[in-house]
Parts: sequence; structure tokens; C-alpha cells
Amino acid sequence: MKNVRIVDVLKSGQVGTEITVKGWVRTRRGSKNVNFIALNDGSTINNLQVVAEVEVFGEDFFKNINTGAAVGVTGKLVESGGSGQSVELQASALELIGAADPDKYPIQPKRHSLEFLREVAHLRPRTATFSAIFRIRHAMVFAIHNFFNDRGFYNVHTPIITSSDAEGAGEMFRITTLPAKDAPLNEEGNVDFTQDFFGKSANLTVSGQLEGELFAMALAKIYTFGPTFRAENSNTSRHLAEFWMIEPEVAFSDLNDNMDLAEDFLKYLIRYALDHCMDDLLFLSSRLVEEEKTKPADQRSMELIEKLKFVADNDFVRLTYTDAIEILKNSKPNKKGKFQYPITGYGTDLQSEHERFLVEQEFKKPVILTNYPKEIKSFYMRLDDNGETVAAMDVLFPQIGEIIGGSQREERLDVLERRMDEMNIPKDDMQWYLDTRRFGGCPHAGFGLGFERLLLFVTGMSNIRDVIPFARTPKNCEF
Ligand code: 4AD
Ligand code: MG
Repeated sequence: MKNVRIVDVLKSGQVGTEITVKGWVRTRRGSKNVNFIALNDGSTINNLQVVAEVEVFGEDFFKNINTGAAVGVTGKLVESGGSGQSVELQASALELIGAADPDKYPIQPKRHSLEFLREVAHLRPRTATFSAIFRIRHAMVFAIHNFFNDRGFYNVHTPIITSSDAEGAGEMFRITTLPAKDAPLNEEGNVDFTQDFFGKSANLTVSGQLEGELFAMALAKIYTFGPTFRAENSNTSRHLAEFWMIEPEVAFSDLNDNMDLAEDFLKYLIRYALDHCMDDLLFLSSRLVEEEKTKPADQRSMELIEKLKFVADNDFVRLTYTDAIEILKNSKPNKKGKFQYPITGYGTDLQSEHERFLVEQEFKKPVILTNYPKEIKSFYMRLDDNGETVAAMDVLFPQIGEIIGGSQREERLDVLERRMDEMNIPKDDMQWYLDTRRFGGCPHAGFGLGFERLLLFVTGMSNIRDVIPFARTPKNCEF
């Protein structure tokens, strides 16, 4: 008999039908006559209750039906006596497919800390919390492609190995096949990368944007969705060394169009989660409510689903950097010296404490900050008429801070070349990029959404290591 998924059984299983399910034992409770097995196959947060008579299988048989074991069950669906489910499975055949030694299996049916579960990240998708997170992660991938496909965007696979530093921030992982010991040197005594695999120094990409721009100058509306890598030594709950980024790029588009696209996109994704992942969201919400109970009342955040609806249904605030600095300079925490990085005035780079103040205290809504000073942003952002600020935009979210970074791009060749000189970006290596400004250039704009930061928001988790299957962070590359 073909096995069916538990999600389908619980949704539309007919009492009286004979079915086979296969999955992993979450818990087993036994009494003298009967054993109850909570079975989960990953298709839903909910378990199917399996009822197995001791008389049918013999007492010894159940010794191996422990938490974590893989089993197959055939039986008849009957109306459930217990609360919380409509049907349960009366087992007529029960097969142990893979045992899990209860003395050694690390995931026991009790509350484990998230820190502990990171150490057993190879097994944590078996927990209710992580299965919920990773089903939502999948739904969001699907929704992202849907959103762009429906709007006439083409997906582009930009390269993962590159020789350029898209952000000009120098936070790259080098890729080389040269020996670590006694690498060949050139006349100046530096490593001679002309002898390397690519004949020059290469690295993992920090962003697909620059190549994305080339395709936007041909297909008009494109997006990339790929892994990106940053060797910044930021050991925070918001930074990964390997993360996934979604980067749309649109020709004939300006900063306002870009903000509209970003806001529509985020709201669409949040609504999609509300429409398609409610069981998992309800579970994560109840888990958060428990966690919040340990905090003082004034530090508790909005209930997860309420928060998602609030963001999906309300306009984001749009504000220039210059106005934000005024608000921050005159804010209570700044005056009382509560910010770790005090705001002195125009020119200060914003830290996540400032971003969160604007979003969580001042406006109580997502905020799009625009027109930052050119000194603190990337070379490719379009210079404003004042010659001081650039057409940048950062979307700031509660609990997260920056979730999206983007801009209108500098399409004027002479201005772009001047900016590259000012910021020491090597022009010789980037003639291909400058060509788009030489041949049929046009105003264009785009942004990057950090996929794991989106997931932090949607799942309500507080550490980015918990929304990616296997986190890569400074001093940590397990699994
Ligand atoms: O602001 P960033 O650096 O922008 C770019 O890379 C542009 N090239 C995007 C574009 O315009 N096409 O990064 C974009 C987003 C951030 O807003 C943040 O959400 C996420 O990527 N991000 C990270 N997420 C996890 N770990 C890190 N170390 C991240 N660095 C950036
Ligand atoms: Mg940024």
C-alpha cells in the first residue's frame, strides 16, 4: 500500500479507510493494554496518533518504538477519542524501520534550549520548532519566485565565484587552489595569483547585484536569489558568513519605484505566510508566548500573528536620513546617553540600536530610510542633486533593523567614474560594468533582501542561526 502524508490524513482522512503512514516517533505512551504513538512525518506540525494494542504486537515489540525511531504503520482510521485531533490510526501492522537508542538519541521529548539544538543541528529538524521554521522557509522561497514571476521578472543565476567586490567593502572569502604553504610569490614578494586556478585572485560573491544590473539592461526586470558570503567578523544574532539574498533589479525605475516594489514584496511574503503556513505560525506563536513570559511585561513584543498582520496591513513610514538624524539626536535615549553609539549629527552611520529606536519606539511601524550621505554608502548609488547624499534606501523592521538595502543606481558614466575614483574602486577590472553606462544606459534601481532576516521576522525567532539549516559564523563551520 502506498503511504500517505499525515497532513493529508489529518485534513481529509475518511474514517473507516485503510492507510499506511511512515514517519518518526515523537513520543510513545504505554499502558498495560495499549500504546499511543505520536507519529510525525514532517508534512505538518501536527502528529497522527497511532493506537497499537499490546495484545496484537506483544509487549516486547514496543521496547524499540522510541522517540526518534522511524516506523511504518498500516491500519484503519477511526474517530479519535482524544481531544485535539479528529482521527487516529488503529494499527494492524507496525514496522520498525530504523531504531533510535533512547540512551543515545539527543532529542528527547522535553524542552531543549535553542543553544543545545544548534549543537545537534543535524537532528534539530526533527523537533516541532525547527520543522515549522523550515517548512516556512520553503514556503517563502516559493512565494518569492511566485511574486516575481507574476510581475514579469526573470530569474538570473549570477555567479558565485567572482573577481569583483560588489559592495567595495573588502569582506570577501578568497577562493584559491594555490598551496597554503609556500605559495608562489611574484617579484614584489606577494602571492602570485597569475599562477592560481583563474589566473587572478577570485572570491565568493558578496552580492549578485553588479551582474544583475547587466541583465536588467537587457531583460528589463530581473531578480537573483542566491547564496552570498561575507567575511565580516560580526558575531551577532543578525549576521551570517553565508546567507541567501534576493536581489531584484529594474530598468527605467527610480528610488520611489524601488521603495514601492520593496514594500509590496515584503507585504506579499508576509501575507503568503499567513495564508499558507498558519499551523506552523500558530505553533511558533505559542512557543514565543511561553518565552515572553520570562520577560518583564514592558519588554514583551506583540504576538507573532498580530505582528505579521499589522505589518502586512499598514503603510511603511518613508523618511530621509537627514530627518532621521534630527529625530535621533533629540531622542530621549540619545540625550540620556543610552545609545552605545551617540548621535552627534549628520554623517553618523546608523547602528542597529538607532534603527530599532526609529521603528520600535518612534514610529512603531517599518521605516524606509532614504538619501544617506554618500560617504557611508556604496559607490554605485546615484548621487543626489545636492552632491552630498545618494539615492539609497534601507528598509528597517522591528526586532531586526535593516532587512533590505538598496538604491537607485548611478547611470551617468562621468559621475560613476568620479565616485569610483573617490572610493578607490579599481576601474580597470570593471569595464564590463561601466559598459552598461556607455551603451544604452538608463535610470535603474534595485535592492537586496536578506532571506534569513526575513525569516527571523516571519518566524519570530531571535537568532539568525536558527532560521538557516546549517549556520556559518566566525569560528563555526560544522556539518
Ligand atoms: O545592504 P547590503 O549589503 O546590500 C547589498 O548587498 C546590495 N548589493 C543589495 C542590492 O542593492 N542589490 O545587503 C542586503 C541585505 C541587508 O539588508 C540584510 O538584510 C542582508 O542583506 N545582509 C545579511 N544577512 C545576514 N548576514 C549578513 N552578514 C548580512 N549582510 C547583509
Ligand atoms: Mg546595507
